Amino acid sequence: MINSENVIIILTALILCFSISILSEREPIPFQMQLDRWEVLLPSIGISAMHMQLLHNGMVIMFDRTDFGISNLSLPGGMCRFDPSDTAVKFDCSAHSVLYDVVSNTYRALKVQTDTWCSSGSVLPNGTLVQTGGYNDGERAARMFTPCGYSETCDWIEFPQYLAQRRWYATNQILPDGRIIVVGGRRQFNFEIFPRPDSHGYRGSRFDFLRETTDGSSENNLYPFLYLLPDGNLFVFANTRSIVFDYKRNRIVREFPEIPDGDPRNYPSSGSSILFPLDESKNIMEAEIMVCGGAPKDAFPRAKSQQGFTRATSTCGRLRLTSPNPIWEMETMPLPRVMGDMLLLPTGDIIIVNGAGAGTAGWENARDPVTRPVIYHPFDHRFSIMSTSSCPRMYHSSAVLLPDGRVLVGGSNPHIYYNFTNVEYPTELSLEAYSPPYLSFTSDSIRPHILTNDKVISYKRLFNVHFSIPQFLTIDLLSVRIVAPSFTTHSFAMNQRMVILKLLSVTHEDLTNSYKLDVLGPSTAEIAPPGYYMIFLVHAGIPSSGFWVQIE
Ligand SMILES: *[C@@H]1O[C@H](CO)[C@@H](O)[C@H](O)[C@H]1NC(C)=O
Ligand SMILES: *[C@@H]1O[C@H](CO)[C@@H](O)[C@H](O)[C@H]1NC(C)=O
Ligand SMILES: *[C@@H]1O[C@H](CO)[C@@H](O)[C@H](O)[C@H]1NC(C)=O
Repeated sequence: MINSENVIIILTALILCFSISILSEREPIPFQMQLDRWEVLLPSIGISAMHMQLLHNGMVIMFDRTDFGISNLSLPGGMCRFDPSDTAVKFDCSAHSVLYDVVSNTYRALKVQTDTWCSSGSVLPNGTLVQTGGYNDGERAARMFTPCGYSETCDWIEFPQYLAQRRWYATNQILPDGRIIVVGGRRQFNFEIFPRPDSHGYRGSRFDFLRETTDGSSENNLYPFLYLLPDGNLFVFANTRSIVFDYKRNRIVREFPEIPDGDPRNYPSSGSSILFPLDESKNIMEAEIMVCGGAPKDAFPRAKSQQGFTRATSTCGRLRLTSPNPIWEMETMPLPRVMGDMLLLPTGDIIIVNGAGAGTAGWENARDPVTRPVIYHPFDHRFSIMSTSSCPRMYHSSAVLLPDGRVLVGGSNPHIYYNFTNVEYPTELSLEAYSPPYLSFTSDSIRPHILTNDKVISYKRLFNVHFSIPQFLTIDLLSVRIVAPSFTTHSFAMNQRMVILKLLSVTHEDLTNSYKLDVLGPSTAEIAPPGYYMIFLVHAGIPSSGFWVQIE
């Protein structure tokens, strides 16, 4: 479909992402008043943000892969790497990972030495990131990154032969006991636990469901969607099928109906997925998931053999896992999308950002960048189309929620090299932030501000949050939520979860004209595994900024 709007989007995309201005101002405004906003934070961070993890000191660790060729950032200390097994350049003095400081909007190069391509990660309860796998010399690596101050020199620590199996395109989930489960990966029909159990010769445990859901060479079940459920089991979605899996006994507890319409939803037919907020303020704990977008079965072989780019999937499916007879409730997105990123916003709405309207994941396999995010409102099942970013975010792009409520967006590199010219979608080194409408100043009169909060929260224990607000409407419109920061890559935000906590009382404190909240910590480690979370107050649909709490 060629209309003036598309032409403008294409033109804008052709210009470098950070020179937005004039053209985008001529685009139609999706609301009567444009409340949301895109901004380019940095035109280049020197690498492409293929993987991102927000840490509890407000910094975001980002990395791509070590065998992409030479990035636009030097390794710290004039270091170089000689790697005879590298597929692009054997001698490389460039960095492939950075640490980005949100507040000062600056970054520094980090030193990762083994290949992190298409890997996975989780943050331990103590705040250290554990990243697992990759490719080539990195396929069995476990790596750790412990956050430190920006001016300090903390860096990656690598254990190149740690994992029981090769993990390339695996998914991780933090468990209630603080261990991590690493599931699947290319040609890996098994899972393993980090830290590795003591047993000599640990090989992990077999997981036939992944073998059953592989579409031959197209696969379509990599980076499975994985959630820890309130009952302690795991939800696993791969290709078109999904199960409740008891990983302790290696047993499928329940299988759900296949998602209707038969389109695969996992890599390379990359759709995305979220677990809706777990709500402790209700009497029964429910769990519901949603899967959106993807690509039809033929999309990958067609793109690979240069027969064309199949239109992406426009459907989403919602599945209430805790209902006695779960059935998929289908929704239609206003824009078809493959390689989108679904994130929970503090309000409980869902943003779907990045990706393409045709093709699949993989080198040069997609076209028609979808530069408009949509926001899905779960209660009335409504999608809103939001403002346009000027920057296509194709294969290898990512997004994470920031404590201030913005969404950090980066990456896009659909080539083996850092090609900045002569390719359809050049390698993208910029970072952008998207501010949803709730950040508009027009809502400032009803926006809560957290003044102080208990920094450590225990299960089932009372804790306090103090806040101020220009105009407090009613307690019925106020809620307290915690959000676990995700490890985002390849359209899936691993470990992302939101828990709405039980709010017991609000007390007005006259002296300071502020309010004190009595809130109950999460009930169990299955609902909220131990670790660092951002705590937000939401009042009449408007969130505060998030502050860090540690659950133990
Ligand atoms: C990357 O570095 C090269 C060489 O210094 C430069 O020509 C190019 O403009 C840079 N590209 C980006 C996107 O920063
Ligand atoms: C967290 O635990 C891991 C594993 O025991 C350890 O290597 C790391 O140093 C710890 N991090 C902190 C911040 O204590
Ligand atoms: C991409 O970059 C690599 C390495 O710099 C180069 O060999 C290749 O020809 C480039 N591709 C295009 C289409 O320019």
